[in-house]
Amino acid sequence: MAESSGKSDKIRVGVIGCGGMAQGHMKVFGELPRYQFTAASDNFAANLDKAVATYGVKGFADGHELIKSGLCDAIVIATPHYFHPEYALAGLKAGLHVLTEKPVSVTAGAAAEVNKAALANPQLRYAAMFQFRSSPRLRKAKQIIDQGTLGPIRRVQWTCTGWFRTQAYYNSGSWRATWAGEGGGVLLNQCPHNLDVLYWLAGQPKRITAHITLGKYHNIEVEDDVTAFLEYPGGATGVFITSTGEAPGSDVFEIIGDRGKMNLSAGNRIEMVLADESINDFCRSTPHAWANPVTNKVTVETPDGGSHKAIHENFIASVLDGAPLIAPGVEGIHSVEMANAMIMSGLTGKGVDLPIDYAAYDRLLADLIEKAKAKKAGK
Ligand SMILES: NC(=O)c1ccc[n+]([C@@H]2O[C@H](COP(=O)([O-])OP(=O)(O)OC[C@H]3O[C@@H](n4cnc5c(N)ncnc54)[C@H](O)[C@@H]3O)[C@@H](O)[C@H]2O)c1
Repeated sequence: MAESSGKSDKIRVGVIGCGGMAQGHMKVFGELPRYQFTAASDNFAANLDKAVATYGVKGFADGHELIKSGLCDAIVIATPHYFHPEYALAGLKAGLHVLTEKPVSVTAGAAAEVNKAALANPQLRYAAMFQFRSSPRLRKAKQIIDQGTLGPIRRVQWTCTGWFRTQAYYNSGSWRATWAGEGGGVLLNQCPHNLDVLYWLAGQPKRITAHITLGKYHNIEVEDDVTAFLEYPGGATGVFITSTGEAPGSDVFEIIGDRGKMNLSAGNRIEMVLADESINDFCRSTPHAWANPVTNKVTVETPDGGSHKAIHENFIASVLDGAPLIAPGVEGIHSVEMANAMIMSGLTGKGVDLPIDYAAYDRLLADLIEKAKAKKAGK
């Protein structure tokens, strides 16, 4: 297998799942000379045959056979979500580096199992395809927040309703938008990116209270509209809103700290309004009834960028050169856990504390799958 010491100069890579997203991965393999694309797997013969014919790689109907084949140093997982942790775990246990598509799993409990294997094998790289993290604008925002420019975070709000999807999209794959096939809707398919960025920039909430609607805009089993209230350990609060039924959608993302606020909805710019002092201290100490703290506008221009290819380049650099991962797979549990908490809260009408009770969520999901099955059978 490839070593992270730099001894090996190529990574023999295999892809598991050869559907829509994998087309992009396979194209990128050919653009990155330190990848050697050797094997593909899909349990749908037409998709596997197309990949094998196009790229001349060895094909496997079963992803576990690819993992055991000895043809790969690393796997890229691009199957429907439920199979991500199964293949990630098998890959890590077989001594392979793993780059998994998002979400890293459907349930936080499954992600925790993969994390155990990843932490037990620090010589292997386990990465997640969270390409938003490679955006120069978001990377700069992270740096600004981490260096304390905004002060302690007080509030976050993200309305990300730019995920409009048609009924035809949902009809395009039988696994889509079902509890059994996908394990959720907008929170599990589109929003893992947003929830990951929220975690990355603002940390993990300690409690989530959400309103979700199942099939509000589409004929689907799962949620396509979400409004969540987030409570953070330090007293900060947040609001997260998403939907796949609004067009045109909105992207309003603001982070408010004790030293000012950051607007992340202005294209490639980061717009900030920064105070000269702690706003809390000013509020409590000024003798003036109608005063406001002195503030300055600061705009940071950032270049275009952020792509699947950038995450692949980083994965390669991490495996071969020891570079730190931009999106470590072990951090993927946080976005899954937020999604699970939102679904659980939305369906029970109660706030949910994080970390969530994995077993309770598994029972809730099993019940949703069972009820959907009974409904389909007309029971
Ligand atoms: N990072 C991103 O921006 C991004 C974008 C799109 C999709 N995705 C993710 O990629 C994954 C796949 O999405 P898609 O749109 O390509 O779906 P898709 O349905 O087009 O492709 C999935 C493929 O996996 C195959 N498959 C199913 N079960 C399998 C199994 N057990 N073993 C091997 N192959 C199996 C299917 O036959 C199909 O060819 C999803 O998890 C999705 O969230 C990520």
